[in-house]
Amino acid sequence: MENTQKKGGFAGGIGFVLAAAGSAVGLGNLWGFPYKTANNGGAAFVFLYIACVLFIGLTIMICEIFLGRRSQANPVTAFKKINKKIGWFGLLAILVPFIITWYYSVLGGYTVKFAVNSFWGNDGNLANFAGNGWEVILFSAIFLGFALFVVMMGVKSGIEKASKILMPALFILLVLVVIFVLFLGDGVGDGLKFYLVPDFSKITWSSVLAAMGQAFYSLSLGMGAMIVYGSYTGKEINIVKSTGMICIFDTFVALLAGMAIFPAVFHFAAVEGIAATDLQLNGLMLMFNTLPKVFESIGYFGNIIEFFFFAMVIIAAVTSVISIMEVSTQFIIQKFRIKRKKATLFVAIVTFAISIPIALSLGHLLNGTGKMEIFGLDFLSFLDTVTNTVIMPVCALFSCLAVGWFITPKKAIEELKLDGNKFGIFEKPLMFMMKFVVPVLIIAIEVFGIKDLIFPGNVFSSDGLGVAIVSLAIIAVAMGVYFLLLKNTETGTNADEIG
Ligand code: ALA
Repeated sequence: MENTQKKGGFAGGIGFVLAAAGSAVGLGNLWGFPYKTANNGGAAFVFLYIACVLFIGLTIMICEIFLGRRSQANPVTAFKKINKKIGWFGLLAILVPFIITWYYSVLGGYTVKFAVNSFWGNDGNLANFAGNGWEVILFSAIFLGFALFVVMMGVKSGIEKASKILMPALFILLVLVVIFVLFLGDGVGDGLKFYLVPDFSKITWSSVLAAMGQAFYSLSLGMGAMIVYGSYTGKEINIVKSTGMICIFDTFVALLAGMAIFPAVFHFAAVEGIAATDLQLNGLMLMFNTLPKVFESIGYFGNIIEFFFFAMVIIAAVTSVISIMEVSTQFIIQKFRIKRKKATLFVAIVTFAISIPIALSLGHLLNGTGKMEIFGLDFLSFLDTVTNTVIMPVCALFSCLAVGWFITPKKAIEELKLDGNKFGIFEKPLMFMMKFVVPVLIIAIEVFGIKDLIFPGNVFSSDGLGVAIVSLAIIAVAMGVYFLLLKNTETGTNADEIG
């Protein structure tokens, strides 16, 4: 066991739990979860999702926080300390969040614009806004600016402090929106029924895949964030209890988001005399087109609730993007021994530059003008598919293999026990999950996922093959760079941070 003297890390257990919950609760909960639930048959998907959190997510989160905590270092060093040959698992875990930040900042920019515009009305605004490239870029910059500020301040004074204020604020806003929606009247009951009464005949392989991908994304697993946050903790934090709290909070917020969105959408449909399923509930349309319509149909009070809603989405997105930005920032600080402020600025500038074509490509798609595509997808959907479908599950698998096969579950549990974690009757099942169940489940689901990408509906898709090849190329790059440049050089630890 490495020493667990933390440097520049979280001040306390609650701060860590709130920051990690802040990382987890994000666009994945408030946007991804509701639209995927709508697309995959409603309540049956909710059950699948909860099963994925319980049977896969919990174990991986314990592994990732543990990997960070025992190494007190960035992900490359964390894996390298276990075995030099697997240091590239860590480089991949740094590349994934770096890529995610590029498009997350564009979506973050949308949420800022829609919050600002709530009082004037967002109904029908999506295509106009999306097509106005410079405005989108400006709002992405504002969003990134929030994140830059927090990450620059460091883990304790920036990330922890911001999370301690923002997470309770998010929760209060969410509860207010849910209460308001539940009293809307017509259609609310139908919305709740769609959301809470499962029809298990609607479960398909692709909904299982979607549920697992959503669980990883929502819990910030397979994207380095939990390894990095874990590295800033010491013995004062009980990993098992903290993991339980983070997973419960994240799932609760996702469930509450659905409680706000489905009754509101079904109410609107009832008032308009249309079927709720005829409304656009997919992808960006649900959040940026249908929901503004729904809120604004309620009148001035609806505008206020709309503002609360988007303010809450901004908070969720900011507390997530800071965690994924921290991953590459931490590595740059430790590997190149440069100051935090410089490293953060560098990451933010590169992210901003790359986010510009992503914003323009999405604008073309939503505005219906021209095309900027790669393998048949706008840049945002392309990067989202590459990360969610292929690389994130691979990274999560690597974390599990590192603990389950390289460290071994027995040793891992011993180390965790020395740190005050208690397992009771769950000790043996957890060891079994780490070693066999979770890796096998991820591999199985991943194989189906890639097959689905290349043969959607059993028809060959050259675009899907392209996406799969790019994903594998990114994995190969991580491997190549590591073996050529990082394996035999110092990659730093938290103790090397110079302020
Ligand atoms: N976990 C973050 C989210 O849900 C990335 O958006």
